Amino acid sequence: MTDSLVKVENLKKYFPVKLGMFEGWRFENGKLKRNRLFVKAIDGVSFEIMKGDTFALVGESGCGKTTTGRTIVGLYKRTGGEIYFKGKPIDSFLKENPRDFKRNVQMIFQDPYSSLNPRMKVYQLISEPLRVHKLVKDKKEEREKVIEIMKNVGLEPEYMSRYPHQFSGGQRQRIAIGRALASEPEFIVADEPISALDVSIRAQILNLMEDLQEKYGLTYLFIAHDLSVVRHISNKVAVMYLGHIVEMGDTDEIFTHPLHPYTKTLFESIPSVEKVKQPLKVTIEGEVPSPINPPPGCPFHPRCPHATERCKKERPEIKEVSPGHYVACFLY
Ligand SMILES: Nc1ncnc2c1ncn2[C@@H]1O[C@H](COP(=O)(O)OP(=O)(O)OP(=O)(O)O)[C@@H](O)[C@H]1O
Ligand SMILES: [Mg+2]
Repeated sequence: MTDSLVKVENLKKYFPVKLGMFEGWRFENGKLKRNRLFVKAIDGVSFEIMKGDTFALVGESGCGKTTTGRTIVGLYKRTGGEIYFKGKPIDSFLKENPRDFKRNVQMIFQDPYSSLNPRMKVYQLISEPLRVHKLVKDKKEEREKVIEIMKNVGLEPEYMSRYPHQFSGGQRQRIAIGRALASEPEFIVADEPISALDVSIRAQILNLMEDLQEKYGLTYLFIAHDLSVVRHISNKVAVMYLGHIVEMGDTDEIFTHPLHPYTKTLFESIPSVEKVKQPLKVTIEGEVPSPINPPPGCPFHPRCPHATERCKKERPEIKEVSPGHYVACFLY
């Protein structure tokens, strides 16, 4: 039996849009009323992450990946829906063990330049969570622990008194991973942890994350633009489009039998070894519609080659079409 670590049900996060003087107000029955508009960054997302999973969240820019991650770790307050941690609704989990959640759930960001305080040395960056969460009893143990973590993330302990700017991008991401690891978390949200890095070192960071997962029994929510990045690291994939999950399943299944037209176009935009000689064709027509005024019906219909009249009016619910494989499309 695998345990459920994180589960979200119909999760929603809307951001209010700031409106100017004129569009911000309207007259209604002789009264001045405020106009309200929202960016529906995530609009009813459900999935479950089991202990030990690497759950990948994939989709184009602006589809709501970061918002999903930030809402789960508590950086954003959700607009609707429920989040469960270890089977408990998040609010009661937080009430009962507020410190436990803060320690247990960590986030790694895309840009290790801005996510690390430039005025803190590596030693401070890694030792701070140890002290905050009272994971060491004295200075000696603290120092030993920092050295151990630095070694585990592939940093030379002799560099512990350096500042983040004295390291390369890849090493800086190692520091960020070390800092996240220091609080001994079970769950890490990694928001595009390799996309800001040089192509030549991306694989090293992915390998490091895999090694650490095995060593510490970590569970990841791994956010990426690109399906090719998640193929080897994840065991589950969810494809997001305009605030919704359109397809979800085991990584092997999604890679061998993609069903949703959007997922298929994402695959066509991956340059494969055979295709690499041909020029990359732009496969997805049109722009992503705005999440402020999302189109009615299926969010993908304005760009979908298979769209019918029904797709323009009705939004397809996500359904299990074969064991563990979920698709939101009227074709299935
Ligand atoms: N703090 C915020 N205030 C207002 N709107 C926001 C905020 N954060 C995100 N949004 C909007 O919500 C939508 C989803 O954004 P989000 O950052 O979650 O997308 P993403 O999938 O992570 O994109 P990217 O690949 O570019 O990182 C976008 O339309 C974005 O403009
Ligand atoms: Mg993002």
